Amino acid sequence: MERKPFYITTPIYYPSDRLHIGHAYTTTIADALARYHRLAGEDVLFLTGSDEHGQKIQRRAAEQEIKPKEYVDRIVATFQDLWRRLNVSYDDFVRTTEPRHHKVVQEIFRKIYENGDIYKDEYEGWYCMPCETFWLERQLVDGKCPNPDCRRPVELLREESYFFRLSKYQDRLLEHIKTHPEFIQPASRRNEMIKFIEQGLEDLCISRTTFDWGIPVPINAKHVIYVWFDALSNYLTGAGWLQDEAKFAKFWPADLHLVGKEIVRFHTIIWPIMLMAAGLPLPKTVFGHGWLVLEGEKMSKSKGNVVDPVALIEEFGADAIRYFLLREISFGADGNFSRAALIQRINSDLANDLGNLLYRTSAMLEKFTGGRVPEPAFPSDLDQELIRLAEQTVAVVDADIRGLEINAALAAIWRLIGRANKYIDETAPWNLAKNEETRAQLHTVLYNLAEVLRIVALEIFAFVPATSTRIWQQLGLEGTPDKHSLAECRWGLYPAGRVVHREPPLFPRIEIGDAAPAAGEAASGAGPAAVKGAAGAAGSTQVTEGLIGIEDFARLDLRVGTVLSAEKVEGADKLLKLMVDLGEETRQVVAGVAQYYRPEELAGRQVVLVANLKPAKLKGITSQGMILAASTADRAQLAIVAPESRIASGSKVK
Ligand code: MSP
Repeated sequence: MERKPFYITTPIYYPSDRLHIGHAYTTTIADALARYHRLAGEDVLFLTGSDEHGQKIQRRAAEQEIKPKEYVDRIVATFQDLWRRLNVSYDDFVRTTEPRHHKVVQEIFRKIYENGDIYKDEYEGWYCMPCETFWLERQLVDGKCPNPDCRRPVELLREESYFFRLSKYQDRLLEHIKTHPEFIQPASRRNEMIKFIEQGLEDLCISRTTFDWGIPVPINAKHVIYVWFDALSNYLTGAGWLQDEAKFAKFWPADLHLVGKEIVRFHTIIWPIMLMAAGLPLPKTVFGHGWLVLEGEKMSKSKGNVVDPVALIEEFGADAIRYFLLREISFGADGNFSRAALIQRINSDLANDLGNLLYRTSAMLEKFTGGRVPEPAFPSDLDQELIRLAEQTVAVVDADIRGLEINAALAAIWRLIGRANKYIDETAPWNLAKNEETRAQLHTVLYNLAEVLRIVALEIFAFVPATSTRIWQQLGLEGTPDKHSLAECRWGLYPAGRVVHREPPLFPRIEIGDAAPAAGEAASGAGPAAVKGAAGAAGSTQVTEGLIGIEDFARLDLRVGTVLSAEKVEGADKLLKLMVDLGEETRQVVAGVAQYYRPEELAGRQVVLVANLKPAKLKGITSQGMILAASTADRAQLAIVAPESRIASGSKVK
């Protein structure tokens, strides 16, 4: 069967020697969409590339005393390296310095010229080189570039140029925009563009003679073609125009050009008019997304407020960055980047919600069935509710992605993850495991958890592909998710009998530095008394009073436990009831930590338990042990003591 084609593009990037996380934004979104459509069985062409010509590049290269080509080669390699680190799965990368592109640009110029829509005249007007944009006198702001993000001085140009008759197409373009509401999205940008066009379009200067780093005008080699005319044509090059007729017929017109909001004007005025004049169909949608800002300002090299994406990926991993960009920033609007918000997302969504669901499920499977996923029995109402939500989620995500509501799609997947975590608390498998009569119920719960995770793995593949693959493999499933399809999100396809492996958590929690005092500060005032006492004794041979022998310490049975669930204790605002996995057994422990930790923060965490403490009743609930926590003398701060790295539940602490 012929697969449905889906052609998606990012803008081609200016080779900038300072990469920032804003650069990663458009490409991450495009990659997520491309992966989603592939997993939906479509034939995807995902294009990106680099925009390498123009006066700005020629000057930069001259400053460094190297040839422009040498300059761009070096920088383009750093972009390609960033895309590799971010797991960007583009199908093609167009460099505007490639011969195949050269041919396309000259041909489209020639076609439009032959149609009579390009003519030669004298250009006199303003040019902003950093933006590579022509401006009219009346558009300048205080004599400077009107782009709010630039506002740099403009240059007066007076040169012989070729002009493109944009004015002739003004009415046809307006008509197209008005009759095709999907053409410019979101609607706010569409309205902006309509207003702009209604003010009147001037013919556009599309050639320059004062520098030569560009593609020559085919009919006059003294001129090079304007860099935007050159760059926009890359979408035809990538689709195989003049190279591969079958490919072009299949993929053109493009389904989606994803672009940042500052370049919507080029993509919805110059580009469609170029295509109209050349007799080619227009792309279906141009989506203008917002900017990633740092304290309200667009990140840019000239402002010096850039965040290095490579360093971020090295520190947090590609999936954490991808997830943050896709989840945190409402698609279409501007969104703020902050380290604190990134860490918050990692801890709450990835470590707590997703990581714990996998860890708790695999720990319970290991403990109750030796890792083997059992056959489910007849589903209860509670089971059915979970199954229904899983099925609905698949449909909601599909509608959201096709409607370009990316964060809504992620929110829907995370609602399912949250529901599955709650399902563990509600079904309490550790209780079901105690009796033979509830064995079938236990099996159903364990199967359902493995099945939810399988569906979640498929659903998150487009957004966090490495994490999805890790979950898939941990679930004992075949191959990798990309070899499967979204059609397999149907409930019940997990093949019972497979073995789930327990592995270290997907995303270790990141402690925010300033929450914990630095080691040396502990002794001053509010430091934890117990730690101070131990340090004082260590170097002393004199003081023996109050000390204990090793045999006294050996009477304590300290064990590492993993919190399976945590919940508030009715009528006691300081207490939480925890179910703690000790390997051999599960303990119910009441801990006085409710003022410092929310129950959902504790599920999945490891703790140190005094395992041979006499059971006690707190607020009528039996506590079989005590977890260790350090607190400052004034109890303003409290921190649960945990092993430095993940270790098997039940391990002895000594
Ligand atoms: N070369 C042109 C595009 C030509 S397409 C025919 C260009 N290049 S760019 O390198 O300046 O920008 C590439 C993409 O990165 C654009 O979509 C732009 O909006 C995006 N971003 C660059 N900085 C950004 C942020 N701070 N935030 C979000 N996206 C931003 O424009």
